[in-house]
Parts: sequence; C-alpha cells; structure tokens
Amino acid sequence: MERKGWRVDMPGVVRILSLLLVSLLLGTARGLRNVSQKTFTIDYNRHCFLKDGQPFRYISGSIHYFRVPRFYWKDRLLKMKMAGLNAIQIYVPWNFHEPQPGQYQFSEDHDVEYFLQLAHELGLLVVLRPGPYICAEWDMGGLPAWLLEKENIVLRSSDPDYLAAVDKWLGVILPKMKPLLYQNGGPIITVQVENEYGSYFACDYDYLRFLQTRFRYHLGNEVTLFTTDGSNEKLVQCGALQGLYATVDFGPGANITDAFLIQRKYEPKGPLINSEFYTGWLDHWGQPHSTVKTEAVASSLQEILAHGANVNLYMFIGGTNFAYWNGANTPYQPQPTSYDYDAPLSEAGDLTEKYFAVRDVIRKFEKVPEGPIPPSTPKFAYGKVALKKLKTVEESLNILCPNGPIKSVYPLTFIQVKQYFGFVLYRTTLPEDCSNPTPLSSPFSGVHDRAYVSVDGVPQGILDRSNVITLNITGKAGATLDLLVENMGRVNYGHFINDYKGLISNLTLNSTILTDWMIFPLDTESAVCHLGGWHGSDHGSRHDKAGPLGASNYTVPAFYVGNFSIPSGIPDLPQDTFIQFPGWTKGQVWINGFNLGRYWPARGPQMTLFVPRHILVTSAPNTIAVLELERAPCSDSPPEPCTVEFVDKPVISAAVAYSPLFQDLPDQDL
Ligand SMILES: *[C@@H]1O[C@H](CO)[C@@H](O)[C@H](O)[C@H]1NC(C)=O
Ligand SMILES: *[C@@H]1O[C@H](CO)[C@@H](O)[C@H](O)[C@H]1NC(C)=O
Ligand SMILES: *[C@@H]1O[C@H](CO)[C@@H](O)[C@H](O)[C@H]1NC(C)=O
Ligand SMILES: *[C@@H]1O[C@H](CO)[C@@H](O)[C@H](O)[C@H]1NC(C)=O
Ligand SMILES: *[C@@H]1O[C@H](CO)[C@@H](O)[C@H](O)[C@H]1NC(C)=O
Ligand SMILES: *[C@@H]1O[C@H](CO)[C@@H](O)[C@H](O)[C@H]1NC(C)=O
Repeated sequence: MERKGWRVDMPGVVRILSLLLVSLLLGTARGLRNVSQKTFTIDYNRHCFLKDGQPFRYISGSIHYFRVPRFYWKDRLLKMKMAGLNAIQIYVPWNFHEPQPGQYQFSEDHDVEYFLQLAHELGLLVVLRPGPYICAEWDMGGLPAWLLEKENIVLRSSDPDYLAAVDKWLGVILPKMKPLLYQNGGPIITVQVENEYGSYFACDYDYLRFLQTRFRYHLGNEVTLFTTDGSNEKLVQCGALQGLYATVDFGPGANITDAFLIQRKYEPKGPLINSEFYTGWLDHWGQPHSTVKTEAVASSLQEILAHGANVNLYMFIGGTNFAYWNGANTPYQPQPTSYDYDAPLSEAGDLTEKYFAVRDVIRKFEKVPEGPIPPSTPKFAYGKVALKKLKTVEESLNILCPNGPIKSVYPLTFIQVKQYFGFVLYRTTLPEDCSNPTPLSSPFSGVHDRAYVSVDGVPQGILDRSNVITLNITGKAGATLDLLVENMGRVNYGHFINDYKGLISNLTLNSTILTDWMIFPLDTESAVCHLGGWHGSDHGSRHDKAGPLGASNYTVPAFYVGNFSIPSGIPDLPQDTFIQFPGWTKGQVWINGFNLGRYWPARGPQMTLFVPRHILVTSAPNTIAVLELERAPCSDSPPEPCTVEFVDKPVISAAVAYSPLFQDLPDQDL
C-alpha cells in the first residue's frame, strides 16, 4: 500500500517538532558534507558527466506520474529499474498542479515529491523537466487554461502577464524540487528549462533568460540546467541559450552521427545527450495507431550507446490521458485517451517484447540488475454490464448546473464562464420559423470543438471545429435550441496553443446572428459522484424523439448508468480490466466517480479504455456512468439494452473509421 503524505496528515505540533528534528539532522549532514560531498557536474574535457567525481552516463526512461495512478507508481518504477535504466525523466505539468490561479494540488495522484522519493528509494536518478511548457500531448502543453483569461496573451514569451504567472508558479514548484537535487541528497541530476523552445515561433531570448535567472535563483548555481530541441540547426538556434547546456532529441529514423553533430555545433565539448529517443509515437482519433518496430528501437539505441551518449527513452511507459487531459495538434486533431505510445511498458504497465529487447541492448553496456522482474499485472474479463438510460443532459441541468445559467447577448467562451474542461450547454430560442431545413452556421469555425445540437429535445446533428461548420435544423419559432459543446482537449504544440473553447464566435441561423444566450457550465464531475440524488421529481427519461432526415442517427446526449459486482470466490480480485463500448458512438465514462476518459469507437483506433483495479471495490457494486453524446446502441421502443463489456485485452489499434461527415480540409489552423 502507498504511504500517505505525512506533511498533510500530521497534527500541527508533531509537524513542528519533526521539522525541528529534520533541521537538526540536516545541520549534522551539512557538517559531514566535506567528507562525502555529492556532486553531479559536466566534464568538458572527457565529454561526460561526473557523478561524485567519477565519469557517468545516464540511460533514462520517461514516465509521466500524471498518467499513471499513484497506486502503480512503484510497480512501474521497479520495472524501469529492472530494465537496466539508471535514471527516469519526468515532466511537471503546471495545469495539473495549479487548476485555478493560486490553488495548488500536490496530494495523492499529484504528489510529485512522493513520486520522486520512490524513484530515489529504488536507486533511480531523475532528469527533471518542470516546464513551464511541456508539450507532452497534454492539454495546452501543461500551461493552465486560466492564462487565457488575458485575451491576446502571448504564451511562452516575455509577455508581462505570462511572466508574472510563470514567476509565481516557479516560486512554488522549484523550492519543492531543491531539496531533491542530487547535491542536496536527492535523485535529481539535471533540470531542463522550457521544452523544445526552438520549435515555437516566438524565439524570445529574453523569455529564456528570464527562466534561466529564476531557475538559478530557486535551485542554485550547482545544478546543470539544459535545453532540448529537435536535431536541426534552426531549431536549436532559437531553443539554446548561453549557460544552459544544449541537448537534442531524435528517434530511430535519424542518422545518429548527423544528429549529434548538430548538438556539437552548440556544445563542442561535454556529454552527448539525446533527451527524447522515441520508442514509439503519439496517436490521434481517426488515424491508425502509431507503432515503431522493436528492431529499429534496439539497433538505434545500441548505436547511441556505442557513441558513449546519454539517452532518455521517450516514453518508457506512456500511460493514460484520464479525464480530459489529452492534448491536440493543428489542424485540430485531438489525441485519444490511451497514451500507450507503443512504449516498452504498455499503457497498463505490461512487459512487452520491446522491453526485453531494450534490456538486452542496455546489458551490453551496463550492468543490469539481477533478480525477478515484476510480472505484468493480471487482467480480468468481468463481462457484459447492462446500462440504463438515466436522464438526458437537458433533463439534468438542475443537477449539472445548480447555480443556473449565465445570460449573455452573444456567446461566451469556456474561459469567460470559468469552466476549463468538459462541457458547456449553450441555449437560445429560434427567432423565426424553421419548418423548412434552415442552415445553422458557425461561419468562422468557432465551435471548439464539437457541438451536439438539438431543438426542443430533438437531435439535429453535430457541428465540428474541423469539418462541419453548417447544419440544417428544423423547428418552430420560439423553440429551444441547445448546443452541448465539448472541449476535446487544447492544442499542445505549435503556434496555436491559445486554444479557446466553447462557442468562440457568433452562430448564425439563415445568416442572422443568434443572440440572447443562456450558458450552462456543467459540473459533470460532482454530478456523477452523486447519482443517488438524481431521482428527484422527474420520472425517468422522455422517449427519444426522431430528428429530421439525416439526423435520425443521433440521440440527444444522455447519461446511462449500471453496476457490476466483483465475483466472489476468485482469488486476487479485483484485477485490472479494459472497458469496451459495442455499438456506442462517442462519450465520457466514469467508474465509481473516477473519470476514465473519452471513448470514441465510431472513430478509433482506440476501442477499449484501461480500468486500473484500485478504482474498483469488492464491498459493493461498482457504478458505471456513461455520458453518450451521439448515439447509444439501445432504445426505449422497442426496448433494447445498452451494454458495455469488460475484457482482459486492450484494443487500441483497430481500423479507423472516419465518420461519413469527416473530410480533409485544406491545411489551415482551425
Ligand atoms: C550518416 O550520415 C553520414 C553523412 O553525414 C554518412 O556518412 C553516414 O553513412 C550516415 N550513416 C548512416 C547509418 O546512414
Ligand atoms: C432564409 O432567409 C431568406 C431571406 O430572408 C428567405 O428567403 C428564406 O426563406 C430563408 N430560409 C429559410 C430556410 O428559412
Ligand atoms: C440544407 O438544406 C438545403 C435545402 O434543403 C440544401 O440545399 C443544403 O445542401 C443543406 N445543407 C446542408 C449543410 O445539409
Ligand atoms: C458577435 O456579433 C456582435 C455583433 O456583430 C459583435 O459585436 C460581437 O463581437 C460578436 N461576438 C463574437 C464572439 O464574435
Ligand atoms: C447511421 O449510422 C450507421 C452506423 O453508424 C451508418 O452505417 C449509417 O451510414 C449512418 N447513416 C446516416 C444517414 O448517417
Ligand atoms: C445495480 O443494477 C441492478 C440492475 O442491473 C439494479 O437492480 C440495482 O438497483 C443496481 N444497484 C445499485 C446499487 O445501483
């Protein structure tokens, strides 16, 4: 079992006493430091690191503690250790730790200090990448969405409002990291400043210098600070800065000699470092699952190590974009829930053929620990579970938005209503009769990212940021027009990371701008945690109404619930499992209130979602809540059940099915 954060749980008096004790011990340790001083430096003559004065090379792997449940941190770290790695590399996502300005989260799954302590106890060193920008296929590249409250803010630049927020954040995170630096007795050997900054358009050296000054102020002068950029001279040019050690990143396809020559142009002496050696690659909904052949990874890794270079395998374990944390690329393409990455350890932490191949390569250069490798965790197929329709989103607005709507003549964005993730419902009335199909349009592609449209509870279809900006609707004058708008993840890479969500421009109906909106920010998270309170006065759901021709394929967004019990009499249950959605279309799923992420089997390539066992209970039935946005496989009349199924194997590389509406758009940043 995991240890709880003692700093949080202990009463004040005990805390003060133990702080005194710790400072006494630290004082003693300082006295001893001259005897066994820990150092981690660069030897510019021998082109290597020096650890406690001895030549040292790291072989590291990336793991994102924010994509692996705390319950499994130790298991994954131990597997990394047993592969022969002597270090791990982590990012720190700012938005994960400061969800609202000045509100910090560092406990439970957010306890980065505990994670680093675990790595330390296992004898793994740490390459720390605290951003502030991290890319990482993570919402907005780790930057908090609330930065967008200042319209026209230039992120990742010397914009004073951006710098003020960064400064405050660095003043929180870096002091937490300082005691964990190697020379202070911790595992952190090097610290990256920003991330692939040379790939960003701004090329603002003042910004990099600002970061350098603040990192030095908080961490001291001893630690090696570094930058990472693609192995291309133009990229390193805007990403490197005097005083920050320049490193490069490249995958198995690269010419290794050439790639390191780029680093050598900026760092003629010192260790060669590939900070991101790609073991696999990222995915997008609607594109085939990315894979990189084991042989290519193994032979390229062998060559890198034969160069005497330091290397970090990105990713060693990818993990999961739980809840709403996935990012997106432009033209807008969101990433799926799985961040398996075709890495040596699978999303669920399983040992793969690639794991053993990597270990065999490392073994040729370094001693690999003896002893058993922790096995892949067992998986269990709990089988089919029937779900019942609970209520539509429209019927649940009193639960989902207890404070009622915000009124506005023109639509407001998510940021303007202080909702950063999930869903917002936009409501107005039809100003004119639309008995004939009438075009509802977002002329500037301002639906970010997908709107589920209905009129008086009758589904009309979907507007979508990347490919559907007009939809014909029907309804009487005065009818209620609802658009449930989904934020599908903020752009995490490139020029367009200022990614506003919601209706970010006006909608027109037959060319007239729609006005007088009621905007409902939806708190789905607390609603699904209190499903018991949903029954109230409403007697179940209304029957589905048929939409206009072509929209008959849609049902209005609705919640479905069900439960399943862990079978008794089978040892070692609960075990991990995967949930799949036969016949369902697109939505979000929670088990016992834990937000597992998005499912979209109608698009692929991901068909199952990873369900870690620690969210399951044996003492009571486990509650499944599904918000289906487009079309559930069941119906009221004739009665057809909706089922989900728990299986013991993941499917993340199914053939992708583009929706009939999906079409290639010209290459523009929508
Ligand atoms: C890498 O590029 C160099 C020229 O820059 C070439 O001599 C060498 O053969 C290439 N290596 C491989 C493995 O293609
Ligand atoms: C749209 O507006 C035009 C011009 O006002 C009108 O002639 C047409 O009938 C309208 N179309 C619909 C479908 O209401
Ligand atoms: C909307 O309906 C009109 C008239 O039926 C049709 O010409 C037009 O193609 C339709 N537009 C869309 C986007 O379906
Ligand atoms: C919507 O249209 C009104 C009137 O033309 C304009 O003042 C407003 O800025 C527009 N809003 C957005 C978000 O584009
Ligand atoms: C409705 O959905 C089914 C199954 O997803 C698909 O085969 C069919 O083409 C769709 N029909 C229309 C009119 O979009
Ligand atoms: C679990 O589901 C069954 C139907 O499958 C239902 O009768 C029962 O009330 C549910 N129990 C809970 C605790 O929701």
